[in-house]
Amino acid sequence: MKRLAILGASGHGKVVAEIAELNGWDVVFFDDAFPSVTGLAHWSVIGNTDDLLTDLQCFDGCFVAIGNNRIRLDKQRMLAKKGATLPVLIHPSAVVSRYAKVEAGCVVMAGAVINPFALVQQACIVNTAATIDHDCVLAEGVHISPSANLAGAVSVGACSWVGIGASVKQCLKIGANVVVGAGAAVVLDIADNLTVVGVPAKVLIK
Ligand SMILES: CC(C)(COP(=O)(O)OP(=O)(O)OC[C@H]1O[C@@H](n2cnc3c(N)ncnc32)[C@H](O)[C@@H]1OP(=O)(O)O)[C@@H](O)C(=O)NCCC(=O)NCCS
Repeated sequence: MKRLAILGASGHGKVVAEIAELNGWDVVFFDDAFPSVTGLAHWSVIGNTDDLLTDLQCFDGCFVAIGNNRIRLDKQRMLAKKGATLPVLIHPSAVVSRYAKVEAGCVVMAGAVINPFALVQQACIVNTAATIDHDCVLAEGVHISPSANLAGAVSVGACSWVGIGASVKQCLKIGANVVVGAGAAVVLDIADNLTVVGVPAKVLIK
């Protein structure tokens, strides 16, 4: 059986692990909380990031299952530099167009849909039942949360997070490091580094 090392023993990691198993991988975890943490449900946590780098040749693939977009992307880049194989994990119930491109280290969860000519760059999360319509571009390290919907030709900048149940109108540009709050309706472009909430979505000022 193919051996997969998952970095990040969290709730997100559990979902990733099951999708990996459904794709024929045998899973073990690494986490920087090791040795304080040695297990996650029935899976073993056998080391930290440094241990994984030492043992890289023991695995057929590595996957970074860390929710924080910046950390996930940085860890994935480091593993890629060291020559790790970084698979794409797609739940069997997800629908990914043959004309879409999903890059290394992305996970596409149950019931998600990615339509033709969408581009999902490395280390993205397309969470449960999210939809990414035709010609969308997700830059590296983006997270589209459960049941969020992107209409056609939306672009989302690096490390941005679209919250649960949010909707984005077609052809809009969401910048990098943006947070779109849960349930928001995005109807205008959003500049980098902003948090927006509400219907229609407005910048959150605290
Ligand atoms: C937008 C978000 C990141 C803001 O979090 P925060 O910075 O901790 O903000 P707070 O909870 O302190 O709220 C600040 C204000 O914004 C409002 N607010 C927060 N999130 C909101 C949302 N999604 N929609 C509308 N208003 C929101 C709060 O009611 C509060 O208003 P007030 O100042 O009038 O009381 C967060 O609320 C959110 O929506 N996260 C997405 C969660 C998600 O998608 N999880 C899925 C994980 S897979």
